[in-house]
Amino acid sequence: MSPFDTPVDRSGTYSVKYDGRKAKFGTDDVLPLWVADMDLPAPECVTDALVIRAKHPVYGYTVYPDRFYDAIAHWMKHRHAWSLRKEAIVPIPGVVPALNFLVTALTEPGDAVLIQPPVYHPFFRLGKHHGRRLLENPLIYEAGEYRIDFDDFRVKAKEAKLFVLCSPHNPVGRVWKQEELEKMAAVCLEEGCLIVSDEVHADIVYPPHRHTPVAALSPDISDIAITLNAPSKTFNIAGLNTAYAIIENDSIRRRFETELKRYDLTMGNLFGIEALTASYECGEKWLEELLVYLRENIRFVTKFLAEHVPQIRPVTPEATYLMWLDCRGLGMDDEAMERFFVEKAKLGLNTGVSFGKEGSGFMRLNVGCPRATLEEAMRRLKGAMEEDV
Ligand SMILES: Cc1ncc(COP(=O)(O)O)c(C=O)c1O
Repeated sequence: MSPFDTPVDRSGTYSVKYDGRKAKFGTDDVLPLWVADMDLPAPECVTDALVIRAKHPVYGYTVYPDRFYDAIAHWMKHRHAWSLRKEAIVPIPGVVPALNFLVTALTEPGDAVLIQPPVYHPFFRLGKHHGRRLLENPLIYEAGEYRIDFDDFRVKAKEAKLFVLCSPHNPVGRVWKQEELEKMAAVCLEEGCLIVSDEVHADIVYPPHRHTPVAALSPDISDIAITLNAPSKTFNIAGLNTAYAIIENDSIRRRFETELKRYDLTMGNLFGIEALTASYECGEKWLEELLVYLRENIRFVTKFLAEHVPQIRPVTPEATYLMWLDCRGLGMDDEAMERFFVEKAKLGLNTGVSFGKEGSGFMRLNVGCPRATLEEAMRRLKGAMEEDV
């Protein structure tokens, strides 16, 4: 029995995943397997650090201590072989807000921003919200695997000011290989396109795959790259709204910091600071155990579907606790499929089309939960299939 097997009751904790069900699915009776946080407890050392801090009864304005920067730099060096300057680190309240501020700081209205759908849905808003044009370089799905269309990438990167890379990729679960990153970065260097690399899933990677921070590839690349990361996915602390950008290029970093100051977004969340430092300083063993557990969850779902619901074929994730399910074998259009999952199977997953039209026929399943939750989910799915026949 793993400590992750113990169910955690999240009711009454204002969680989006549970308390947001009615708004999202129109009903509270779905098993929630959608928004990307886990139904698993954070490392004990994180809880301990928060409890100790909570016992100090003054929760005033907070500075980012040296320890915050040291913890990030050490984690990057230790886990991702990336030696970075601590001065390059800029604290931010979240990866998604930072994506927006990068777009406004580094591009002008009418400029083009490049993304690779199917991709994390907030990337699509970067165009519409700021009057920028969105260019799409759709990933190619062939024989159960996703890859980059490099010819199309070059054409689009020529026109784009900013390329927003999702590395590892949500929702398709790819860990971009060093050669793939080098090839994209070389094009961006040649075409004068800045790279914003969202690496928030970088720590949830299954061996033998290995995450390479794109900015760590060479000094030339780090000069045009902005990396966004956080311990939020890794240690399940997304509700603490604490993330960071790594920007080696001084002039780009200053432009970004100026944008943050314009909105007075420079103050930290004191619990977020505690949790980030504690998790990076003492959460590694927990993370190793988590990776083993998540991998078993992925195996369980894969085996169950192959045996009982072969119409649904999962794309094997190389990273993330999100499984991208090819449901085209169900023979339903996207609306019917959503209704089938919610109304018949009573399961709350993200629809594939919410990640762009390339996601049509797919669903995204969050396996960051106790195995028993997935057993229940699979039982419901199988039952719904049998009923549907
Ligand atoms: C690729 C990606 N980026 C960013 C986020 C969220 O980041 P934050 O909560 O720091 O805004 C998520 C959450 O699912 C994600 O999958």
